[in-house]
Amino acid sequence: MSNDMSSNETLMVIAHRGAAGEAPENTLAAFALGLEQGCTGIELDVHLSKDGEIIVCHDTTLNRTTDRQGAIGNLTVEEIKQADAGSWFHERFAGERVPLLEEVFDLVPPEVQINVEIKAGNDGIAPALVELMKRKDRLNDVFVSSFDFDILERLKELEPEARIGLLYHIRMTHHDRMAGLLDYPVYSLHPHWSRMDKRSVSEAIERGLRVYPWTVNEEANMLNMIDCGVSGIITDYPGRLKRLLER
Ligand code: G3P
Ligand code: CA
Repeated sequence: MSNDMSSNETLMVIAHRGAAGEAPENTLAAFALGLEQGCTGIELDVHLSKDGEIIVCHDTTLNRTTDRQGAIGNLTVEEIKQADAGSWFHERFAGERVPLLEEVFDLVPPEVQINVEIKAGNDGIAPALVELMKRKDRLNDVFVSSFDFDILERLKELEPEARIGLLYHIRMTHHDRMAGLLDYPVYSLHPHWSRMDKRSVSEAIERGLRVYPWTVNEEANMLNMIDCGVSGIITDYPGRLKRLLER
């Protein structure tokens, strides 16, 4: 292999929505599988329930990933917990529940980083997230990303130690410059894997930023990202990436 793997020993293997290629996304089963496969980071998505709890789910509604319908923001935890979040993926996951972020914090050991992505529309989530990270002593092993920079700014105002990551659809060349324009420190950049280049990655890393591309599932693209010198890779297949790094 032409890539210098020796320099990638610390590359973070980030299980996207858990090991979402092989288990129902954003469930404890998917996170447990990612851990079993040796991931060193976990990415997940959050929304606020009607009763103010932080719920782990990608979509605004339960419709696609459970057997129930309805917007998370209109449902209580008790109602959300009635949904089966596993059967849609495979019958062997029947009975999986939509987890609270607190349950994921309890499952994942502190040496594994957690990338919490706040989905748009959850403007009131920052106080609840800061309270939970502090109560669970997770400020140092969680980094919070969003496409919505207003929510990240609010989080940073509430808790200056919170580590925040900027999610972008635009080309990587613009990320680094935009991070420099913000008047609060940014921890990481999260570009789409197809919109970045080696030079932009090295410039960002020289400025002390981490670079975590998403969602990289094919081996050839993983190799390309490694060659770019990224800090970690967000993938639905953490086992595949681990095997590639160990080759
Ligand atoms: O956090 C990176 C990636 O997860 C963003 O896209 O739609 O999978 O949440 P999405
Ligand atoms: Ca996400």
